[in-house]
Amino acid sequence: MDMEYLAGATLAGIAIGAGEPLMPASRSDPPAARQILSAIAVLLRQYRDSEGVSAIATSIQEKIMTIADELQATIEQMVQPGKGILAADESQPTIAKRFAAIKVESTEENHRAYRSLLFTTPGIEDFISGVIQFEETLAQTSDDGTLLPEVLASRGIVPGIKVDKGKGPLALSPGDLITYGLDGLGERLQQYKSQGARFAKWREVYQISEHNPTYLGLSANAEMLARYAAVCQEQGIVPIVEPEVLIDGDHSMARCAEVTEAVQKEIFHALHRHHVVLEHIILKPNMVLPGKAHPAKSSADEIAAATLRVFRRTVPAAVPSINFLSGGLSPEQATANLNAMNAGFSDAPWLLSFSYGRALQQPVLQAWQGKPGNVASAQQALLKRARLNGAAQRGEYQASMENAA
Ligand code: 13P
Repeated sequence: MDMEYLAGATLAGIAIGAGEPLMPASRSDPPAARQILSAIAVLLRQYRDSEGVSAIATSIQEKIMTIADELQATIEQMVQPGKGILAADESQPTIAKRFAAIKVESTEENHRAYRSLLFTTPGIEDFISGVIQFEETLAQTSDDGTLLPEVLASRGIVPGIKVDKGKGPLALSPGDLITYGLDGLGERLQQYKSQGARFAKWREVYQISEHNPTYLGLSANAEMLARYAAVCQEQGIVPIVEPEVLIDGDHSMARCAEVTEAVQKEIFHALHRHHVVLEHIILKPNMVLPGKAHPAKSSADEIAAATLRVFRRTVPAAVPSINFLSGGLSPEQATANLNAMNAGFSDAPWLLSFSYGRALQQPVLQAWQGKPGNVASAQQALLKRARLNGAAQRGEYQASMENAA
Protein backbone atom coordinates (compact mmCIF):
# COMPACT_ATOMS: atom_id res chain seq x y z
CA MET A 1 0.00 0.00 0.00
CA ASP A 2 1.51 3.38 -0.94
CA MET A 3 2.14 6.11 1.61
CA GLU A 4 -0.31 8.56 0.10
CA TYR A 5 -3.13 6.06 0.34
CA LEU A 6 -2.16 5.17 3.88
CA ALA A 7 -2.16 8.87 4.79
CA GLY A 8 -5.59 9.30 3.24
CA ALA A 9 -6.90 6.29 5.10
CA THR A 10 -5.45 7.62 8.34
CA LEU A 11 -7.11 11.00 7.91
CA ALA A 12 -10.39 9.36 7.03
CA GLY A 13 -9.97 7.28 10.17
CA ILE A 14 -9.56 10.48 12.16
CA ALA A 15 -12.87 11.68 10.76
CA ILE A 16 -14.60 8.50 11.83
CA GLY A 17 -12.84 8.55 15.18
CA ALA A 18 -14.15 12.05 15.77
CA GLY A 19 -17.65 10.71 15.52
CA GLU A 20 -18.41 11.74 11.95
CA PRO A 21 -20.58 9.45 9.79
CA LEU A 22 -18.81 7.14 7.36
CA MET A 23 -18.75 8.91 4.00
CA PRO A 24 -20.48 7.28 1.03
CA ALA A 25 -17.32 7.28 -1.10
CA SER A 26 -15.66 4.88 1.32
CA ARG A 27 -18.03 2.09 0.27
CA SER A 28 -15.49 1.26 -2.37
CA ASP A 29 -12.48 1.12 -0.07
CA PRO A 30 -10.71 -2.21 -0.33
CA PRO A 31 -10.99 -4.52 2.71
CA ALA A 32 -7.41 -3.89 3.89
CA ALA A 33 -8.01 -0.15 4.01
CA ARG A 34 -11.27 -0.71 5.89
CA GLN A 35 -9.42 -2.67 8.53
CA ILE A 36 -6.90 0.12 8.92
CA LEU A 37 -9.73 2.64 9.13
CA SER A 38 -11.52 0.80 11.89
CA ALA A 39 -8.32 0.22 13.84
CA ILE A 40 -7.50 3.92 13.65
CA ALA A 41 -11.07 4.80 14.55
CA VAL A 42 -10.90 2.68 17.69
CA LEU A 43 -7.65 4.34 18.77
CA LEU A 44 -8.87 7.82 18.03
CA ARG A 45 -12.13 7.50 19.90
CA GLN A 46 -10.07 7.90 23.04
CA TYR A 47 -8.94 11.33 21.82
CA ARG A 48 -12.16 12.60 20.37
CA ASP A 49 -12.27 15.56 22.73
CA SER A 50 -9.01 16.89 21.43
CA GLU A 51 -9.72 20.09 19.50
CA GLY A 52 -6.93 19.56 16.97
CA VAL A 53 -8.19 16.15 15.93
CA SER A 54 -11.73 17.43 15.63
CA ALA A 55 -10.70 20.33 13.42
CA ILE A 56 -8.76 18.05 11.07
CA ALA A 57 -11.64 15.60 11.04
CA THR A 58 -14.12 18.31 10.12
CA SER A 59 -12.06 19.70 7.27
CA ILE A 60 -11.30 16.24 5.81
CA GLN A 61 -14.90 15.21 6.21
CA GLU A 62 -16.14 18.38 4.50
CA LYS A 63 -13.82 17.81 1.56
CA ILE A 64 -14.84 14.19 1.11
CA MET A 65 -18.52 14.90 1.61
CA THR A 66 -18.35 17.74 -0.87
CA ILE A 67 -17.17 15.45 -3.62
CA ALA A 68 -19.65 12.66 -2.85
CA ASP A 69 -22.50 15.17 -2.54
CA GLU A 70 -21.44 16.87 -5.74
CA LEU A 71 -21.46 13.58 -7.66
CA GLN A 72 -24.81 12.60 -6.18
CA ALA A 73 -26.39 15.97 -7.03
CA THR A 74 -25.18 15.71 -10.63
CA ILE A 75 -26.55 12.17 -10.95
CA GLU A 76 -29.92 13.26 -9.57
CA GLN A 77 -30.15 16.10 -12.05
CA MET A 78 -29.12 13.94 -15.01
CA VAL A 79 -31.14 10.81 -14.23
CA GLN A 80 -34.80 11.78 -14.45
CA PRO A 81 -37.79 9.93 -15.88
CA GLY A 82 -38.73 11.17 -19.35
CA LYS A 83 -35.33 12.76 -19.93
CA GLY A 84 -32.06 11.81 -21.63
CA ILE A 85 -28.77 13.23 -22.86
CA LEU A 86 -27.92 15.06 -26.09
CA ALA A 87 -24.48 14.14 -27.43
CA ALA A 88 -23.19 17.25 -29.23
CA ASP A 89 -19.51 16.45 -28.74
CA GLU A 90 -18.40 15.75 -32.30
CA SER A 91 -14.64 16.13 -32.68
CA GLN A 92 -13.30 18.40 -35.45
CA PRO A 93 -13.10 15.62 -38.10
CA THR A 94 -16.57 14.31 -37.17
CA ILE A 95 -18.34 17.68 -37.24
CA ALA A 96 -16.60 18.39 -40.57
CA LYS A 97 -18.11 15.14 -41.92
CA ARG A 98 -21.60 16.04 -40.64
CA PHE A 99 -21.36 19.56 -42.10
CA ALA A 100 -19.99 18.30 -45.44
CA ALA A 101 -23.19 16.25 -45.88
CA ILE A 102 -25.21 19.51 -45.84
CA LYS A 103 -22.50 21.51 -47.66
CA VAL A 104 -21.63 23.72 -44.69
CA GLU A 105 -18.01 24.73 -44.13
CA SER A 106 -16.48 23.40 -40.90
CA THR A 107 -15.35 26.70 -39.32
CA GLU A 108 -15.23 27.66 -35.66
CA GLU A 109 -18.03 30.20 -36.24
CA ASN A 110 -20.27 27.59 -37.91
CA HIS A 111 -19.69 25.15 -35.04
CA ARG A 112 -20.69 27.94 -32.64
CA ALA A 113 -23.78 28.94 -34.62
CA TYR A 114 -24.94 25.32 -34.86
CA ARG A 115 -24.42 24.47 -31.20
CA SER A 116 -26.01 27.75 -30.15
CA LEU A 117 -29.05 26.71 -32.22
CA LEU A 118 -29.14 23.34 -30.43
CA PHE A 119 -28.71 24.65 -26.90
CA THR A 120 -31.19 27.54 -27.19
CA THR A 121 -34.00 25.37 -28.57
CA PRO A 122 -37.10 26.37 -26.60
CA GLY A 123 -38.48 23.56 -24.47
CA ILE A 124 -35.67 20.96 -24.76
CA GLU A 125 -35.07 21.16 -21.01
CA ASP A 126 -38.30 19.18 -20.59
CA PHE A 127 -36.65 16.16 -22.27
CA ILE A 128 -32.88 16.74 -22.09
CA SER A 129 -31.11 16.67 -18.72
CA GLY A 130 -27.49 16.81 -19.92
CA VAL A 131 -25.48 17.80 -23.00
CA ILE A 132 -22.07 16.39 -23.90
CA GLN A 133 -19.93 19.11 -25.45
CA PHE A 134 -16.63 19.20 -27.30
CA GLU A 135 -13.78 21.21 -25.69
CA GLU A 136 -14.11 24.06 -28.20
CA THR A 137 -17.75 24.66 -27.21
CA LEU A 138 -16.97 25.41 -23.54
CA ALA A 139 -15.49 28.80 -24.48
CA GLN A 140 -18.03 29.69 -27.18
CA THR A 141 -21.10 31.87 -26.77
CA SER A 142 -24.69 31.89 -27.97
CA ASP A 143 -25.87 34.63 -30.33
CA ASP A 144 -26.59 36.92 -27.35
CA GLY A 145 -23.06 36.51 -25.97
CA THR A 146 -23.80 34.06 -23.11
CA LEU A 147 -21.24 31.27 -22.70
CA LEU A 148 -22.79 28.05 -24.04
CA PRO A 149 -22.29 26.00 -20.84
CA GLU A 150 -24.11 28.81 -19.01
CA VAL A 151 -26.97 28.67 -21.51
CA LEU A 152 -27.40 25.00 -20.57
CA ALA A 153 -26.97 25.43 -16.81
CA SER A 154 -29.44 28.33 -16.67
CA ARG A 155 -32.08 26.01 -18.16
CA GLY A 156 -31.41 23.21 -15.68
CA ILE A 157 -29.42 21.12 -18.19
CA VAL A 158 -26.12 19.73 -16.89
CA PRO A 159 -23.14 20.72 -19.07
CA GLY A 160 -20.76 17.84 -19.87
CA ILE A 161 -17.52 17.34 -21.78
CA LYS A 162 -16.01 14.63 -23.96
CA VAL A 163 -12.52 14.08 -22.59
CA ASP A 164 -11.04 11.22 -24.60
CA LYS A 165 -8.69 12.05 -27.45
CA GLY A 166 -9.94 9.54 -29.99
CA LYS A 167 -9.01 6.00 -30.89
CA GLY A 168 -6.28 4.17 -32.74
CA PRO A 169 -5.04 0.60 -33.15
CA LEU A 170 -4.09 -1.35 -30.02
CA ALA A 171 -0.41 -2.19 -30.56
CA LEU A 172 0.40 -5.84 -31.33
CA SER A 173 -3.29 -6.78 -31.25
CA PRO A 174 -4.56 -6.63 -34.85
CA GLY A 175 -8.21 -5.58 -35.15
CA ASP A 176 -8.46 -4.23 -31.60
CA LEU A 177 -8.69 -0.49 -30.89
CA ILE A 178 -7.77 1.68 -27.92
CA THR A 179 -8.63 5.24 -26.90
CA TYR A 180 -6.06 7.91 -25.93
CA GLY A 181 -6.10 10.78 -23.45
CA LEU A 182 -5.36 9.66 -19.87
CA ASP A 183 -2.15 11.68 -19.46
CA GLY A 184 -2.91 14.96 -17.68
CA LEU A 185 -6.62 14.10 -17.44
CA GLY A 186 -6.93 15.31 -13.82
CA GLU A 187 -5.62 18.79 -14.73
CA ARG A 188 -7.82 18.97 -17.82
CA LEU A 189 -10.87 18.07 -15.73
CA GLN A 190 -10.10 20.89 -13.30
CA GLN A 191 -10.02 23.31 -16.22
CA TYR A 192 -13.28 21.95 -17.71
CA LYS A 193 -14.93 22.11 -14.31
CA SER A 194 -13.97 25.77 -14.00
CA GLN A 195 -15.73 26.25 -17.36
CA GLY A 196 -18.92 24.68 -16.03
CA ALA A 197 -18.63 20.96 -16.91
CA ARG A 198 -20.05 18.59 -14.27
CA PHE A 199 -19.84 15.30 -16.11
CA ALA A 200 -17.50 13.74 -18.67
CA LYS A 201 -17.59 11.13 -21.41
CA TRP A 202 -14.98 8.65 -22.62
CA ARG A 203 -15.62 6.23 -25.48
CA GLU A 204 -13.89 2.91 -26.10
CA VAL A 205 -14.64 1.23 -29.44
CA TYR A 206 -14.84 -2.46 -30.27
CA GLN A 207 -15.14 -3.79 -33.79
CA ILE A 208 -16.51 -7.28 -34.30
CA SER A 209 -14.70 -9.79 -36.49
CA GLU A 210 -14.24 -13.52 -36.23
CA HIS A 211 -11.31 -12.89 -33.85
CA ASN A 212 -12.07 -9.46 -32.39
CA PRO A 213 -12.30 -8.15 -29.85
CA THR A 214 -9.57 -10.37 -28.42
CA TYR A 215 -9.28 -10.90 -24.68
CA LEU A 216 -6.40 -8.40 -24.65
CA GLY A 217 -8.67 -5.91 -26.42
CA LEU A 218 -11.42 -6.43 -23.84
CA SER A 219 -9.12 -6.05 -20.84
CA ALA A 220 -7.06 -3.11 -22.17
CA ASN A 221 -10.21 -1.11 -23.05
CA ALA A 222 -11.85 -1.90 -19.71
CA GLU A 223 -8.74 -0.70 -17.90
CA MET A 224 -8.82 2.63 -19.76
CA LEU A 225 -12.49 3.22 -18.95
CA ALA A 226 -11.98 2.37 -15.29
CA ARG A 227 -8.92 4.60 -14.91
CA TYR A 228 -10.74 7.47 -16.60
CA ALA A 229 -13.82 6.98 -14.39
CA ALA A 230 -11.69 6.94 -11.21
CA VAL A 231 -9.94 10.20 -12.16
CA CYS A 232 -13.33 11.82 -12.88
CA GLN A 233 -14.83 10.80 -9.53
CA GLU A 234 -11.75 12.03 -7.70
CA GLN A 235 -12.41 15.46 -9.25
CA GLY A 236 -16.16 15.45 -8.49
CA ILE A 237 -17.06 14.88 -12.16
CA VAL A 238 -19.60 12.15 -13.03
CA PRO A 239 -18.09 9.80 -15.62
CA ILE A 240 -20.16 8.51 -18.52
CA VAL A 241 -18.60 5.15 -19.29
CA GLU A 242 -19.09 4.50 -23.01
CA PRO A 243 -18.11 1.15 -24.51
CA GLU A 244 -19.36 1.00 -28.12
CA VAL A 245 -19.51 -2.31 -29.93
CA LEU A 246 -19.79 -1.12 -33.53
CA ILE A 247 -22.76 -1.97 -35.74
CA ASP A 248 -20.42 -2.35 -38.76
CA GLY A 249 -20.15 -5.85 -40.23
CA ASP A 250 -22.32 -8.81 -41.16
CA HIS A 251 -22.37 -10.48 -37.73
CA SER A 252 -25.60 -11.80 -36.23
CA MET A 253 -27.45 -10.36 -33.23
CA ALA A 254 -26.29 -13.39 -31.22
CA ARG A 255 -22.66 -12.50 -31.94
CA CYS A 256 -23.25 -8.89 -30.90
CA ALA A 257 -24.85 -10.18 -27.68
CA GLU A 258 -21.86 -12.43 -26.97
CA VAL A 259 -19.37 -9.60 -27.52
CA THR A 260 -21.41 -6.99 -25.60
CA GLU A 261 -21.71 -9.36 -22.63
CA ALA A 262 -17.95 -9.97 -22.59
CA VAL A 263 -17.28 -6.22 -22.89
CA GLN A 264 -19.58 -5.33 -19.97
CA LYS A 265 -18.27 -8.13 -17.71
CA GLU A 266 -14.71 -6.93 -18.19
CA ILE A 267 -15.65 -3.28 -17.62
CA PHE A 268 -17.45 -3.87 -14.32
CA HIS A 269 -14.58 -6.01 -13.13
CA ALA A 270 -12.17 -3.16 -13.90
CA LEU A 271 -14.43 -0.49 -12.34
CA HIS A 272 -14.46 -2.55 -9.16
CA ARG A 273 -10.67 -2.95 -9.20
CA HIS A 274 -10.29 0.83 -9.53
CA HIS A 275 -12.71 1.63 -6.65
CA VAL A 276 -15.16 3.44 -8.91
CA VAL A 277 -18.45 4.09 -7.10
CA LEU A 278 -21.12 2.58 -9.33
CA GLU A 279 -23.88 4.81 -7.95
CA HIS A 280 -22.00 7.74 -9.47
CA ILE A 281 -21.49 6.63 -13.06
CA ILE A 282 -23.75 6.57 -16.11
CA LEU A 283 -23.29 3.72 -18.57
CA LYS A 284 -23.56 4.55 -22.27
CA PRO A 285 -23.49 1.31 -24.25
CA ASN A 286 -24.61 0.06 -27.65
CA MET A 287 -27.88 -1.83 -27.95
CA VAL A 288 -27.63 -5.49 -28.94
CA LEU A 289 -28.22 -5.44 -32.71
CA PRO A 290 -27.45 -7.51 -35.79
CA GLY A 291 -24.56 -6.07 -37.87
CA LYS A 292 -25.50 -3.47 -40.48
CA ALA A 293 -24.69 -5.92 -43.30
CA HIS A 294 -26.37 -8.94 -41.71
CA PRO A 295 -29.17 -10.24 -43.96
CA ALA A 296 -31.76 -10.76 -41.18
CA LYS A 297 -33.40 -7.70 -39.64
CA SER A 298 -34.72 -7.71 -36.07
CA SER A 299 -37.79 -6.05 -34.60
CA ALA A 300 -37.61 -3.48 -31.81
CA ASP A 301 -39.06 -6.07 -29.40
CA GLU A 302 -36.37 -8.62 -30.33
CA ILE A 303 -33.66 -6.00 -29.91
CA ALA A 304 -35.09 -4.94 -26.54
CA ALA A 305 -35.21 -8.54 -25.28
CA ALA A 306 -31.66 -9.34 -26.45
CA THR A 307 -30.32 -6.09 -24.99
CA LEU A 308 -31.99 -6.53 -21.61
CA ARG A 309 -30.79 -10.13 -21.34
CA VAL A 310 -27.17 -9.00 -21.72
CA PHE A 311 -27.44 -6.03 -19.35
CA ARG A 312 -29.27 -8.00 -16.66
CA ARG A 313 -26.37 -10.46 -16.69
CA THR A 314 -23.67 -7.87 -16.47
CA VAL A 315 -24.67 -4.46 -15.06
CA PRO A 316 -25.12 -4.18 -11.27
CA ALA A 317 -28.37 -2.61 -10.05
CA ALA A 318 -26.29 0.06 -8.28
CA VAL A 319 -25.76 1.81 -11.63
CA PRO A 320 -28.46 4.50 -11.76
CA SER A 321 -28.93 4.82 -15.51
CA ILE A 322 -28.12 3.19 -18.84
CA ASN A 323 -28.22 5.82 -21.60
CA PHE A 324 -27.84 4.13 -24.97
CA LEU A 325 -25.89 5.57 -27.91
CA SER A 326 -27.61 5.50 -31.30
CA GLY A 327 -24.57 4.14 -33.17
CA GLY A 328 -25.85 4.62 -36.74
CA LEU A 329 -29.51 3.69 -36.21
CA SER A 330 -32.05 5.96 -37.87
CA PRO A 331 -33.76 8.42 -35.51
CA GLU A 332 -37.00 6.44 -35.67
CA GLN A 333 -35.30 3.06 -35.02
CA ALA A 334 -33.36 4.46 -32.07
CA THR A 335 -36.60 5.79 -30.53
CA ALA A 336 -38.59 2.61 -31.23
CA ASN A 337 -35.89 0.39 -29.69
CA LEU A 338 -35.68 2.48 -26.53
CA ASN A 339 -39.45 2.46 -26.25
CA ALA A 340 -39.59 -1.33 -26.59
CA MET A 341 -37.13 -1.68 -23.70
CA ASN A 342 -39.15 0.58 -21.40
CA ALA A 343 -42.54 -0.77 -22.46
CA GLY A 344 -41.46 -4.41 -22.10
CA PHE A 345 -39.09 -4.21 -19.12
CA SER A 346 -40.46 -1.61 -16.74
CA ASP A 347 -39.03 -3.64 -13.83
CA ALA A 348 -35.43 -3.07 -14.95
CA PRO A 349 -33.30 -1.85 -12.01
CA TRP A 350 -31.82 1.11 -13.91
CA LEU A 351 -33.38 4.02 -15.76
CA LEU A 352 -33.20 3.12 -19.46
CA SER A 353 -32.71 6.27 -21.51
CA PHE A 354 -30.84 7.83 -24.42
CA SER A 355 -27.59 9.67 -25.05
CA TYR A 356 -27.99 10.10 -28.77
CA GLY A 357 -25.84 12.06 -31.17
CA ARG A 358 -26.89 11.29 -34.72
CA ALA A 359 -30.40 10.06 -33.84
CA LEU A 360 -31.18 13.46 -32.29
CA GLN A 361 -29.22 15.66 -34.68
CA GLN A 362 -29.72 14.21 -38.18
CA PRO A 363 -33.12 15.87 -38.76
CA VAL A 364 -31.77 19.11 -37.25
CA LEU A 365 -28.86 19.29 -39.68
CA GLN A 366 -31.18 18.50 -42.59
CA ALA A 367 -33.55 21.31 -41.59
CA TRP A 368 -30.77 23.82 -40.86
CA GLN A 369 -28.53 23.57 -43.95
CA GLY A 370 -26.35 26.31 -42.44
CA LYS A 371 -28.95 29.03 -43.11
CA PRO A 372 -29.95 31.50 -40.35
CA GLY A 373 -33.47 31.59 -41.78
CA ASN A 374 -33.85 27.86 -41.02
CA VAL A 375 -32.95 28.05 -37.33
CA ALA A 376 -36.55 27.92 -36.07
CA SER A 377 -37.48 24.84 -38.13
CA ALA A 378 -34.19 23.14 -37.16
CA GLN A 379 -35.03 23.78 -33.49
CA GLN A 380 -38.48 22.30 -34.02
CA ALA A 381 -36.82 19.18 -35.44
CA LEU A 382 -34.65 18.86 -32.32
CA LEU A 383 -37.57 19.44 -29.96
CA LYS A 384 -39.60 16.77 -31.78
CA ARG A 385 -36.89 14.09 -31.46
CA ALA A 386 -36.19 15.05 -27.85
CA ARG A 387 -39.92 14.83 -27.05
CA LEU A 388 -40.34 11.45 -28.78
CA ASN A 389 -37.30 10.00 -27.06
CA GLY A 390 -38.60 11.38 -23.76
CA ALA A 391 -41.82 9.47 -24.45
CA ALA A 392 -39.77 6.35 -25.33
CA GLN A 393 -37.99 6.63 -21.97
CA ARG A 394 -41.43 6.28 -20.38
CA GLY A 395 -42.47 3.48 -22.77
CA GLU A 396 -45.19 5.76 -24.16
CA TYR A 397 -43.98 6.28 -27.74
CA GLN A 398 -46.00 5.14 -30.75
CA ALA A 399 -44.88 5.29 -34.37
CA SER A 400 -47.99 7.36 -35.18
CA MET A 401 -46.50 10.18 -33.06
CA GLU A 402 -43.91 10.68 -35.82
CA ASN A 403 -46.58 12.24 -38.04
CA ALA A 404 -48.35 14.30 -35.40
CA ALA A 405 -47.52 18.00 -35.22
P1 13P B 1 -24.35 8.41 -31.67
O1 13P B 1 -25.68 8.43 -30.94
O2 13P B 1 -24.40 9.15 -32.98
O3 13P B 1 -23.78 7.04 -31.77
O4 13P B 1 -23.35 9.28 -30.82
C1 13P B 1 -23.26 9.09 -29.48
C2 13P B 1 -21.89 9.37 -29.04
O5 13P B 1 -21.68 10.17 -28.16
C3 13P B 1 -20.77 8.64 -29.66
O6 13P B 1 -19.63 8.78 -28.91
